[in-house]
Amino acid sequence: MTMAAVDYDGLIPNNVALGQDVRVKRALEKWHPGYINWWNDMGPEGFQEALVYLRTAIGVDPKGWAKFDYVRMPEYRWGVLLAPQHEGRKIPFGMHKGEDAWQEVPGEYRAMLRRLVVIQGDTEPASVEQQRHLGKTAPSLYDMRNLFQVNVEEGRHLWAMVYLLQKYFGADGREEAEALLQRRSGDADTPRMLGAFNEKTPDWLSFFMFTYFTDRDGKMQLEALAQSGFDPLSRTCRFMLTEEAHHMFVGETGVTRIIQRTCEAMKEAGIDDPHDIDKVRALGVIDLPTVQKKANMHFSLTLDLFGNEISTNAANAFHAGLKGRYREHRLDDDHQLEDSNYPVLRLINGQVQNEDAPALSALNMRLRDDYVADCNAGVNRWNKVIEQHGIPFAIKLPHVAFHRHIGEFSRTNADVDGNILSPAEWTKRRTDFLPSAADKDFIESLMQPQFETGKFASWIAPPKVGIDNKPGDFEYVKIADA
Ligand SMILES: [Fe+2]
Ligand SMILES: [Fe+2]
Repeated sequence: MTMAAVDYDGLIPNNVALGQDVRVKRALEKWHPGYINWWNDMGPEGFQEALVYLRTAIGVDPKGWAKFDYVRMPEYRWGVLLAPQHEGRKIPFGMHKGEDAWQEVPGEYRAMLRRLVVIQGDTEPASVEQQRHLGKTAPSLYDMRNLFQVNVEEGRHLWAMVYLLQKYFGADGREEAEALLQRRSGDADTPRMLGAFNEKTPDWLSFFMFTYFTDRDGKMQLEALAQSGFDPLSRTCRFMLTEEAHHMFVGETGVTRIIQRTCEAMKEAGIDDPHDIDKVRALGVIDLPTVQKKANMHFSLTLDLFGNEISTNAANAFHAGLKGRYREHRLDDDHQLEDSNYPVLRLINGQVQNEDAPALSALNMRLRDDYVADCNAGVNRWNKVIEQHGIPFAIKLPHVAFHRHIGEFSRTNADVDGNILSPAEWTKRRTDFLPSAADKDFIESLMQPQFETGKFASWIAPPKVGIDNKPGDFEYVKIADA
């Protein structure tokens, strides 16, 4: 294992010996002002001057890679950090399985690889754009700090992808790096590339659901790319995964704390029926059925990110050794999949049914299945909290056919249990499953800022432990210094 030290002296902290790579260093330095402009225009609105207690990566070894300090976000040290190179690493899957991993882009796969990097890269700034208004309604300084931590790290993920583009893809790569700063989430003319990254993140429940469900799609994609035969991509993604874990922590614990506060308030008020929505809402907390509807929405939007169930692109990327499966190394098969099948959920004669498909073509479906299993683990932990309070309610992930815009089920309307509805029934029942205008208004009414040190909004419980083990009254964001 070769472990390059992180160079913190230059403009761009890095462990890729940028100092000796004049061409790429210049390209990144040229890209840097545009990035800062983008951050100032599209990053957290109203808090660019605030001092935020942030974690910065100063090394990539598992122990102590993070350093905490107060930083103004535009001065955050966005760097290029790759996980250590494993000497003699082999391509773990596909037609090149067992060959030495590539340190340079194989000519025949250049276009396919560039596309994978660009699509991943495009999601990173998109989520910063989606979340830029949330600081103003933060339920606590603790939560505000977590939001900004996620934001600066998504910014770093953009750097990670831009480094690959500029180092390995020449003029095309530089053009793509520019384009990543030009597209805007939700813009009618120049939207981000994927649907879920053009949706709004209007409130904090959405933010937590997004970091729980959509950042978890990020995790799955990064896990698949971390298997890549193109070693620089693999190393880049392996390090990004350590940051991604915090994003999902923010989502999972955020929803947990909302659920906990709701259950506590119901118990204190002697309300047992979780469906007595008016009474629950009068307590200034979010009723569980609305939490469920938000989960339905973010889960279904995120499923679309996995693409079509049957996909030639996915087959080609695997076959070529560019994008593997979730935890490829733990799977016990030939890692080539030329002759195997995989069950795919399809709409056959109006019924949702499993049908075997060639495993190579079904890789999106497989990654989505792994994703759903991963999502369920956290949902079970949410339900433990509800159970502990003795409230008869359980959050349940909707059926994968529900509310889809891409793939097999985009042509139909299914309810949360996967029953096919007529268009009229769907219209009638839509707000049984997804937030209604009234639900949205109610959530919006709760989104009042709570910026007092150590205090929390009415609808969310404090965390069990502080960030970096800080005490409850720690000032995570110094707005006054702005
Ligand atoms: Fe990311
Ligand atoms: Fe993330």
